[in-house]
Amino acid sequence: MRTPLVAANWKMNGSREFAEGFFTALDLEDSGAEVVICPPFPYLSLVADRVANRAIALGAQNLSHEAAGAYTGEVSAAMLRDVETRYVIVGHSERRSLYGESSELVASKFVAAQESGLVPILCVGETLQEREEGWALDAIAAQLQAVLDRVVADDLKRAVVAYEPVWAIGTGRTATPEQAQEVHGFIRERLGSAGDAVRILYGGSVKSGNATALFSQADIDGALVGGASLDAEEFGKICRAAAQ
Ligand code: 13P
Repeated sequence: MRTPLVAANWKMNGSREFAEGFFTALDLEDSGAEVVICPPFPYLSLVADRVANRAIALGAQNLSHEAAGAYTGEVSAAMLRDVETRYVIVGHSERRSLYGESSELVASKFVAAQESGLVPILCVGETLQEREEGWALDAIAAQLQAVLDRVVADDLKRAVVAYEPVWAIGTGRTATPEQAQEVHGFIRERLGSAGDAVRILYGGSVKSGNATALFSQADIDGALVGGASLDAEEFGKICRAAAQ
C-alpha cells in the first residue's frame, strides 16, 4: 500500500507574510496523506520552522546538479539538506521549457539529489502537440529513460514521479481521470520492478473539485498542486481527499 502524497509547488509566488498566514490557516485534520510544501528558496528555512512539529515535509523546486563551486545563482543538494529539505522537484516542465533543461540534465539533478539524501520528485509530461499527434507516451518514455539509464531499481524506489501534462498546467484544463490513469499505468510499467513501490502523482489544474475523481484511479497516488496550493483551505481539502 502506497501512502498518498500531496505536494504543493508554490512556484515563484508568495512572501514571508504569505507563508506565515498559510500555515496558520492550513488544517490537515490528520489527513493521512503525506504532505510536502515546496516554497521558493528564500522561504525554505521559514517553512522548515513552521512545519517542524507537524506532519508536513519540506521540498524545494529545483537544485543544481553540481556539488559546490563557481556556479553563481545555483543551490546544491547539500545546501537543501542543510536547511531540512527532504524532497526536491526535478524536471518540472517550466524548467524544461523556459530554462532549457534537457532530460539528461534532469537525470543528473535526480542523481545529485539522491546522493545527498533528498527524495527527487521527477516530473514528466507531454505537450499538447505531442498528445494531439499521438505520441504522448513516447515523449514520457523518453523523459523517463534518461533517468532509468542512470539509476538502479533501488534508487527508483526512493523517488517520486509526477505526471504533469504540459497542456493541463495552469490552464484549468485537467486530464480526465481515465487519461491520467492511462499514463500513470504506463509509467508504473516502465519503472519495472520498482514500479509498485513508487508513488506517481498527477499534476495539472488539480483542485478540490476534481481531486477525488483523480485519486480514485488505481495508479494515481496523490498530486503535485500549483495554483490551488496557494490557498490553504483549498489545499487542505485536496490533502484530505487524497487520504480517503
Ligand atoms: P497548476 O496546479 O497550477 O496547474 O500547476 C501544476 C504544476 O505545475 C505543479 O507543479
